[in-house]
Amino acid sequence: MANVLVVGSGLAGLIAAIRATDAGHTVTLVTKAGLPDSNTRYAQGGIAAAMFPDDSVESHMVDTLRAGAGLCDPAAVEVLCTEGPARVRDLIRFGVDFDRDESGVTRGLEAAHSRSRVLHAGGDATGAAIESALVATVRERAERARTLPRGTADAGPRLLIREHTMLVDLAVHGGRVTGAVLLGPDGQLRSRAADSVILATGGAGSLYPHTTNPALATGDGVAAAWRAGAAVADLEFYQFHPTALAVPGTPLVSEAVRGEGAVLRNALGTRFMLDVHPGAELAPRDVVARSIAHEMAGQDGTPVLLDATGLGRDLLERRFPTITAACRQAGLDWATDPIPVAPAAHYWMGGVITDIWGRASLPGLYAVGEAARTGAHGANRLASNSLLEAAVFADRAVRALGASRVDGVDAGAALDRAAADLPRSAAPFVPGRSTPGNAGPFADREGIQRVMWQYAGVLRSGEGLAVAAATLACWSRPATGPDAAAHLDMQIQAYEDANLFDLARITVAAALGREESRGAHYRSDFPASRPELAHTVAFSREPNESN
Ligand code: SIN
Repeated sequence: MANVLVVGSGLAGLIAAIRATDAGHTVTLVTKAGLPDSNTRYAQGGIAAAMFPDDSVESHMVDTLRAGAGLCDPAAVEVLCTEGPARVRDLIRFGVDFDRDESGVTRGLEAAHSRSRVLHAGGDATGAAIESALVATVRERAERARTLPRGTADAGPRLLIREHTMLVDLAVHGGRVTGAVLLGPDGQLRSRAADSVILATGGAGSLYPHTTNPALATGDGVAAAWRAGAAVADLEFYQFHPTALAVPGTPLVSEAVRGEGAVLRNALGTRFMLDVHPGAELAPRDVVARSIAHEMAGQDGTPVLLDATGLGRDLLERRFPTITAACRQAGLDWATDPIPVAPAAHYWMGGVITDIWGRASLPGLYAVGEAARTGAHGANRLASNSLLEAAVFADRAVRALGASRVDGVDAGAALDRAAADLPRSAAPFVPGRSTPGNAGPFADREGIQRVMWQYAGVLRSGEGLAVAAATLACWSRPATGPDAAAHLDMQIQAYEDANLFDLARITVAAALGREESRGAHYRSDFPASRPELAHTVAFSREPNESN
C-alpha cells in the first residue's frame, strides 16, 4: 500500500482521496484554502453522461471529438464517455442528489451536444451539490480512519486532511517525484514525502482579470509540475465562457440558460448569432465567445445582452436560483430585462500531460481534473465534460497507483509514453527551471492579467502575442519565500504570482508558436485551421536531463 499525497479539494481531489483511502492507501489531502473552496463549487450547468435510453456512448464521443477540433486523444475520449455513467452513479452513491421530475433524473441541453444529457442538481448549483456531498464523504472517511485502533495490524488506512496548506514545489529525486514542499497555515515550509503525488489543483483563471473561477485558481500544480520537469501541453487552449455576467465578480451565466431558449442580442437588439452558425446561441462555446467579442468590439466594448425574458419568471427562479440571486445582487431582474454578459476565462484544456491512467511523464506523479491534459478535451472542451473528466480520471489514477501493470500495460515503459508519444508542433521549449534573473521590476498579478487579457485572450494576433512575450520578458519572477513577505497572505500571493508568471510565459510562447486558429485559440493573422499541427509541449528541462 502506498503513501499518497493528494493536492486539491475539488471534485478530482476529493474522489482521488476517497478512492485511495478505500483502496487501503495512506492518504494526505492538502488544499490551499478550506476543503469546500474549489472551482468545482462554482460549476452550474452540470455533468454530461450518456445515461438515457435515447443516448449512446458513441454519440457522446462524437460530440466530444467534434468540439475538440482534431486535438483530442480518441482513447481518452472513449474512456471518458464509456466510464462516465458509472462515475455519475458513484456520485449518486456518495450522496449527490441530482434533480428529478416525474419521469426520473432531469437533463439539460448545452452547446454542441446532439442530445440532452447534462444532469444537474439544485437547478444551477450542480458543482456546489457535488462538492458538499464529497466533502462530507471525505470528512466521514477521515473521522473513521482517525478512530480506528492505532498501532495494530488492523489499524487500516489513514486519511489526513490538511487545509490552508499550499503546494509550493514538487520534490524530485533520481527523476522520480518523491513528495512535495508545502506552505502550512503557520507560514512554515515543510517537506512531505510520498510514494505518489496526485495533483488536482485545477486551472488558472487568475491569469485573466475576467474569469468565472475563484481567485485561488492560480495553476499551482501545473506550474510546480513544469518546474519539476514534467511535460505540460496545449496551454494555449484556454476556454472563454461566452456568458459571464458583466458585473464585478463576473458570475457565470450557465450555457444551460441558452439551452432553455435564451438568446443573445447586440446593442441594437439584433440576434447576431443567427448569422454566425447554424447552432446560433448553442454553437460551440469558442464560436459564441468570439462572436460576442467581435460584437463588443463594434459597440465600444460594451457587453452584449442575454435575453432570457421569454423563459418566464417561474422557470428562471426554479431552474436557475444561483443566477437569479447573482442578478438580484447586481440590481438586475432577468425575468423582465435582458442582462449584460461578456466572455470570461473559464477552463484550461491544456495542463500536465497524462496517459489515460492519470500518470504524468515523471514517475510518481499523477494529474487529474483541470490540472491535467488527458486528451479528453482537445482544443475546446464540450460543455459539462469537465466534472465528468475529473471523476473518471481521478478514479483511474487511484486504480493505477503503484501498479506496475494496469490493463496489460507495463507501467515502467508507459510512464514516458504520454510525453514521448505526443507529436509536437511548435514545441515552445521554455528553458530554465525558473526565470533567469531580469533587471526589470517584479511581475505582479494585475500586470500579468492585463497582458494576458489584451494579447492572449479571446482574440489573438502574432503581433500582440509578441508584445506580450516581450513585456513578460522584461519583468522579473516575483520573489517568494519567508524572506519575501512578512505576512502569510502575502507569502501565498507571492507564490501564486510566481506560478502565474511561469504559466503566462509558457502560454504566450505556445500561443505564439501555434500559427493557426483552432478551438479556443484564435489568431487573426492565421484565421484558418492547420490540421497538420499537433500539440505544443513544454518542458522546463530536456526530458532526459536528470534532477
Ligand atoms: C455552464 O454551466 O455553462 C458551464 C458548464 C461547463 O463549463 O461545462
